[in-house]
Amino acid sequence: MRRTALQDYTLGGKNIKEGDKVSMWYLSGNHDETVFDNADQLIIDRPNAHVAFGFGVHRCMGNRLAGMQLRILWEEIMQRFSYVEVVDDIKRLPNNFIRGIKDVPVRLHPLH
Ligand code: HEM
Repeated sequence: MRRTALQDYTLGGKNIKEGDKVSMWYLSGNHDETVFDNADQLIIDRPNAHVAFGFGVHRCMGNRLAGMQLRILWEEIMQRFSYVEVVDDIKRLPNNFIRGIKDVPVRLHPLH
């Protein structure tokens, strides 16, 4: 995501001039070791301080819908399966915009 600076500003020791285009790396923010303990570990129940949905006036309008869809997806999976086993390497998208996943080979273990 990118913003255009409305005024001169110094951020993290870098001088940004009015009119400069500034890229934001929400992904990097989510791994900020000054904010998160063990920032590179997936800790599913850590406090909800991530910026995956952005920040400020442009924060994702669909974040509640996306959260609800994911909750329902996991509710349905957990009603049917006891365990989702990752059986091979994860293939990622060659993409610097999102840390996307192309393929996750899994074996689903039925509940009953
Ligand atoms: C897991 C799913 C999603 C993720 C990770 C996500 C992520 C984001 C992020 C990071 C932004 C901020 C963009 C910026 O800073 O300029 C954003 C904006 C936005 N998102 Fe999402 N989004 C998701 C799902 C959705 C859904 C389901 C909808 C609509 C149904 C939606 C609608 C929007 C809209 C309209 C904006 C623009 C808000 C603005 O600029 O004022 N998003 N999203």
